[in-house]
Amino acid sequence: MTYYIEIYGCQMNVHDGEILSGIMQSAGHTAVEDVHAADAVFVVTCAVREHAETRALGRITHLAGIPERKPVMVLCGCVAQEHGEELLKKIKLLDLVVGPDVYHCLPELLQERKRIAVTDQGSEDYEQVTAVREQFPRSFVTVMRGCNNYCTYCIVPRVRGRERSRRAELILKEVKSLVDNGYREVTLLGQNVNSYSFDGMRFPELLKRVSDAAGDSCRVRFVTSNPRDLTEGLASVMASRKNICNQFHLPAQSGNDRVLKAMHRGYTRQIYLEKVVMLKELMPDIVLSTDMIAGFPSETAEEFGDSVSLLKEVRYDYAFLFRYSERTGTAALNIEPSVPVEERLRRLSILQELQTEITLEKSKEIIGREMPVLVTGPARREGQTASRTMGNRLVILQSQNFSPGDLVPVTIVKADGYTHFGEPVADSS
Ligand code: SAH
Ligand code: SF4
Ligand code: F3S
Repeated sequence: MTYYIEIYGCQMNVHDGEILSGIMQSAGHTAVEDVHAADAVFVVTCAVREHAETRALGRITHLAGIPERKPVMVLCGCVAQEHGEELLKKIKLLDLVVGPDVYHCLPELLQERKRIAVTDQGSEDYEQVTAVREQFPRSFVTVMRGCNNYCTYCIVPRVRGRERSRRAELILKEVKSLVDNGYREVTLLGQNVNSYSFDGMRFPELLKRVSDAAGDSCRVRFVTSNPRDLTEGLASVMASRKNICNQFHLPAQSGNDRVLKAMHRGYTRQIYLEKVVMLKELMPDIVLSTDMIAGFPSETAEEFGDSVSLLKEVRYDYAFLFRYSERTGTAALNIEPSVPVEERLRRLSILQELQTEITLEKSKEIIGREMPVLVTGPARREGQTASRTMGNRLVILQSQNFSPGDLVPVTIVKADGYTHFGEPVADSS
């Protein structure tokens, strides 16, 4: 059968979608890019905020309305895990609801043609699957799944289950095979990679081994780390390895100690800032990014001011900014008083405005600098090529004479925040 797939949410979900594709293709099915030509339609959904969930449900209803073929409609991912059966009752056009840990059952479920929700948690059986990767020369590799942190606003532990780490040999084998197949970048994935633990091996040691396996030709990144668990050991592995990218996503969520405590984050502003200083000292060129939530229940205007000042103090290169969104089954629902939605939006726009300015200033700081970029493919505009710096900044090259995987030394000539322009350095040899 032919299938069409749409994926939403975090990189974990994106890679799970690649695994889903791998499962379908090894069962003899074929991916199509046109939904009109599909016998089965998958929407891999995210439940982290209400907006993401509504959008996912909107997409499945829209796609199901495409008349000619009546494909099997399958809702996958975190919304599937969260609402299961209930979705079959609510959305008549839906045929299957399948959680993120049971994609290996899909070929059989499609054959059985039953209307059913399958959401067994922690039962993934993906080690034999070859993921169908769509982002050559970049690739994702899962190191752990689930999260035990229970930040009070977050639905992820509910939908992704308890932490479990993958066997290190399997991770290293996958990395080696990617390198053998010409991949030039590996991003290690986990909701909290610093909790990685398998047979006594912790994340810094795993990262070191992945770095060895990746070798000179392949860059290594990872997401996400809870700042609480960021150790000097990890930072020094990063600093001492040439192929580990000088980039760190360090989600702060708030700059205020009382709010951080109510969020259950396990660090104070002071501890957080000490870790930032440590990273900057070990890696002066580091590209830092964060996540922030505006209007967490009980956050006062003054406490919110501490989040604003944190952005100013750290001067992140990038920040992903969200307004607080109520999620079923999370502890923050019991925290009072809630911040009115208009006030959350007001605070969010203050953060956005400030960060846009900082992002622009930070991006201009690299104008005139020389650095190697990894070509990822054609840019959106015809005749141009897209590439990435070690710090994961997007750099556009004004020529199409490059192939994905090329490593090109460039001088940055222009920068406007999210996009930079590079000119290849003339070959002196
Ligand atoms: N495991 C990752 C985060 C996954 S969720 C980590 O710990 O960093 C990605 C981001 O979504 C979070 O960092 C947080 O900023 C945001 N987020 C999660 N739940 C939210 C909620 N209920 N409302 C608003 N933003 C939320
Ligand atoms: Fe959610 Fe916190 Fe786990 Fe991240 S660490 S997934 S924010 S509970
Ligand atoms: Fe969303 Fe699930 Fe990722 S809820 S953020 S897709 S783990």
